[in-house]
Amino acid sequence: MGGGTNHQFSKNNMAKQIISSSNLLSFSLALLIIMLSPIPNLASTSLEEANGLLKWKANLEIPNNSLLSSWIPLPLNSDASIPCTSWFGVVCNADGSIQRLNLGSCGLKGTLHQFSFSLLHNLTHLDLSVNNFTGPIPLEIQLLSKLVYLNISLNNFCGVIPREIANIRQLTDLDLSKNNLTGSIPQEIGTMVSLKGISLALNHLSGLIPSSLGDLTSLNILYLFYNKLSGHIPNELGNLKSLTDLELSLNQLSGSIPSSLANLINLQRLFLGANSFSGSIPQGLGRLDLIKLELDDNQLSGNLPDDLCHGGMLQKLTVSGNQLTGPIPRGLLNCPSLIRVRFDHNQLSGNISNSFGFYPSLAYLDISHNRFHGELSQNWSKCKNLTVLNMGYNNISGYIPREFGSSTQLQKLNLSSNHFIGEIPKELGKMTSMLYLSLADNHLSGIIPPELGSLHDLLAIDLSSNRLNGSIPRSVGNWTHIYNLNLRNNKLIHKIPSEIGKLVQLTELDLSQNLLKEEIPSEVQSLQSLQKLNLSHNRLSGSIPDSIKSLPRGTDIDLSYNELIGPVPTNTNFVNVSIEGNLHLCGNFTGLKFCASQISKKKNDPFHHQLILVIMLPLIGAILLGFFMCGLIAYRKRKRHSPQKPLDKEGGDYFSITSFDGGVAYDDILKATNDFDEAYSIGTGGYGTVYKAELQPNNVLAVKKLHSSSENVDHNGFLNEIRALTNIRHRNIVKLYGYCSHVRYSFLIYEYLENGSLGSILRSDVLAKELDWLKRVNIVKGVANGLAYMHHDCSPPIIHRDISISNVLLDSDYEAHISDFGTSKLLKLDSSNWTAIAGTYGYIAPELAYTMVATEKCDVFSFGIVALEVIMGKHPGELPTLSSDYLVLENVGDSRIPLPLPQAEKQVKLVLSLSRACLNSNPNGRPTMRQVSNLLMKDLL
Ligand SMILES: *[C@@H]1O[C@H](CO)[C@@H](O)[C@H](O)[C@H]1NC(C)=O
Ligand SMILES: *[C@@H]1O[C@H](CO)[C@@H](O)[C@H](O)[C@H]1NC(C)=O
Ligand SMILES: *[C@@H]1O[C@H](CO)[C@@H](O)[C@H](O)[C@H]1NC(C)=O
Ligand SMILES: *[C@@H]1O[C@H](CO)[C@@H](O)[C@H](O)[C@H]1NC(C)=O
Ligand SMILES: *[C@@H]1O[C@H](CO)[C@@H](O)[C@H](O)[C@H]1NC(C)=O
Repeated sequence: MGGGTNHQFSKNNMAKQIISSSNLLSFSLALLIIMLSPIPNLASTSLEEANGLLKWKANLEIPNNSLLSSWIPLPLNSDASIPCTSWFGVVCNADGSIQRLNLGSCGLKGTLHQFSFSLLHNLTHLDLSVNNFTGPIPLEIQLLSKLVYLNISLNNFCGVIPREIANIRQLTDLDLSKNNLTGSIPQEIGTMVSLKGISLALNHLSGLIPSSLGDLTSLNILYLFYNKLSGHIPNELGNLKSLTDLELSLNQLSGSIPSSLANLINLQRLFLGANSFSGSIPQGLGRLDLIKLELDDNQLSGNLPDDLCHGGMLQKLTVSGNQLTGPIPRGLLNCPSLIRVRFDHNQLSGNISNSFGFYPSLAYLDISHNRFHGELSQNWSKCKNLTVLNMGYNNISGYIPREFGSSTQLQKLNLSSNHFIGEIPKELGKMTSMLYLSLADNHLSGIIPPELGSLHDLLAIDLSSNRLNGSIPRSVGNWTHIYNLNLRNNKLIHKIPSEIGKLVQLTELDLSQNLLKEEIPSEVQSLQSLQKLNLSHNRLSGSIPDSIKSLPRGTDIDLSYNELIGPVPTNTNFVNVSIEGNLHLCGNFTGLKFCASQISKKKNDPFHHQLILVIMLPLIGAILLGFFMCGLIAYRKRKRHSPQKPLDKEGGDYFSITSFDGGVAYDDILKATNDFDEAYSIGTGGYGTVYKAELQPNNVLAVKKLHSSSENVDHNGFLNEIRALTNIRHRNIVKLYGYCSHVRYSFLIYEYLENGSLGSILRSDVLAKELDWLKRVNIVKGVANGLAYMHHDCSPPIIHRDISISNVLLDSDYEAHISDFGTSKLLKLDSSNWTAIAGTYGYIAPELAYTMVATEKCDVFSFGIVALEVIMGKHPGELPTLSSDYLVLENVGDSRIPLPLPQAEKQVKLVLSLSRACLNSNPNGRPTMRQVSNLLMKDLL
């Protein structure tokens, strides 16, 4: 700094001297001289600084068109102020020395190794956030002794936080969040008394929270969430009198919450969720003027502080998932500021009839899974912003107030598993925003009010396990969006209305355990999304309508314990069917007698033919294949010598391994794709473009034309690999039929799947809406099964190396099939760098960057991303976003489809928690695919 000032000074002196000793003419001359002569040593410090930056820049990877292209080497004699005036992101002080470097979100890649810390010692602000910096934070950072603001968040810096950082005495803002920093928090940070904000969140920091942090009396913000910090919260944090935000969620902290935190009189946000805190909540916390309090998912016990909402500012209160007991705190009775409240999954008790007040802003209340009793207050209907009210699994009794009908904004009402009595008020039909209504497992009686048919947006309704009687109202036909209709275990009588056929979105229909009579309406055949149909334990009579055969393949159909008569339809779609307990059914099923007409027809029945086909086809296929392989080579040889064929002009050798049962040859595929015309392209995967080749109307193949020829590949090894891969048969793995190679083209031949890639569906708003929660869970399950097979049932195990939503294909039933397995390994052109080409950015396990060794656990990580993406509908991006509410379905679930019903919800939540386990940055901490697949199977059955 001193240098800069002196030079400035000497320039002025020189001009003065010249002016005073000359007349006007010589003054002009002198000016000219000044302009022409080299500026003597002007601002050489800033020049040095600029050159220091250039040296660093030379070692960075910079995107094309980067604004950093304004950082150009300064020609000799050029104006030293150029970096200050025209370099992007550079701000100088009055002396021409570089003071601020604002390089956030510049797409920069590199390290700080070459950063000229000693030259740039005048820096007060350094912002490198949202780039792709790697490597450690150098100790030399302490040389930036004037630094006030340091932000390197959202990069990939690794290693430990150097304790020397504490020598930057004037630092007020320190943001190192969302990197890969490890080790513990240096206790020296407690000496940086100027600090106002510290964020070390979203790293892998471990060890204790240093008690020295309690000395930072100017601190407003302390973000340490999402690390691996353990031990207790030091009592000393209670000294941080200026603190407004304390966020320690998602760590492994334990012990009790220190009562000293009650001294943080300026605290507005306290987030301690998803740790292992135990003991009771300090009563003193209730006296703070908190805006948000999150203590969820710990092992806290005892009562909630009585005077929560002391300052009248409380908006968000989340204590779910603890072992709290006692009543709703009295302080909440008068707390109109509340917006979101979660008490669910505790052991809270007491009479809720008069425990709540009036909340004009409240949008979300969940008190489910507790031990509350008392009655449902009609006052809830006055909370005009309430969209979710969940009181399920309590001991609440009394009537459902008819006033609820005026809650026209309510979208989810769950009163299930309580002791409600009386009728369902017909006024509930006015709740026209309703999406999810569950009154299941109560003592409700009377009819299902036909007025409920006005809930035209309804997605799911569960009235099961009550004492409802009367018939199913015809107005249910208005629920055209509904996908889950559960009336199980009531006393419903009469016929199933034919209007049921209008519910074309239904995936689950359960009318079991009622007193329903007469025939199953043939309209059920319209329910083409159905996965589960349960009509068991009724008094249905007549014959099974033939139309039931046209329900989707694989639908679980339970018709047991009815009074059905006549033949059971025979059809391959009609497989997951229970029909026991119908004494007068007949047909070719175990336990049934043959139908009278069937005995004579048996030999001609189509099922019989199909069976023969099933046995014979593979046999014929195998024989044909033998012929084909030999024939193919002969055919090829002949063709090569035939001069008319333009395709073969190049000549050259031809390799082929195919395993399908038709005469598919190289130029059949070329013909079907019109010589790999763009028009037939259905996507670009890793290593090549995929084409749809329709050889015959019923013989469609996917052909991946490889970018690189496989010249460098050890051919025998390569062909052996292909041969091994063509032998894989698994319902969740795309069948690889074979490989053809020629001078012109090399390609892999795969099974063609109608619904394309998971990626193309998730990226389309229209298609993603088709993908409901059950389908999504099923897709995740399929991917898990396929990977488990590859990892644990193949010898040697196959590591996929490139699991992403582009490599998961869906068939017409949305069953997932993994594609491109093994391709990355097959096409390793040089074994030393294959990891560089294998894998898709955003799915690659973090350790791969360091170890360069792909293991099964890398696939597990990529699977975790895919699973999360299926639930979120988009790539999770910067994992994971703030606060312990992260990975809560309500927050991250794909908002293009409505929240799932309880049953699907459980499965979706399991997927969420499994994906989180799979994304463990420690590969050894991740589950195996076998474990994942078993857990999913067990829970989804
Ligand atoms: C650091 O940068 C990130 C990304 O630009 C920003 O969100 C964050 O608020 C910054 N931190 C501070 C302390 O300014
Ligand atoms: C409903 O609110 C009114 C005041 O708005 C109150 O007097 C009454 O006790 C409340 N009723 C119940 C059942 O909570
Ligand atoms: C619910 O209330 C019943 C009596 O109505 C009682 O027997 C039962 O223990 C209560 N359950 C809980 C979880 O409090
Ligand atoms: C709950 O409190 C209300 C109002 O004080 C009372 O009328 C009701 O009987 C109580 N319910 C139970 C189950 O104790
Ligand atoms: C159908 O419902 C009955 C009774 O509600 C139940 O026992 C049975 O398991 C259900 N069937 C299927 C396939 O879920």
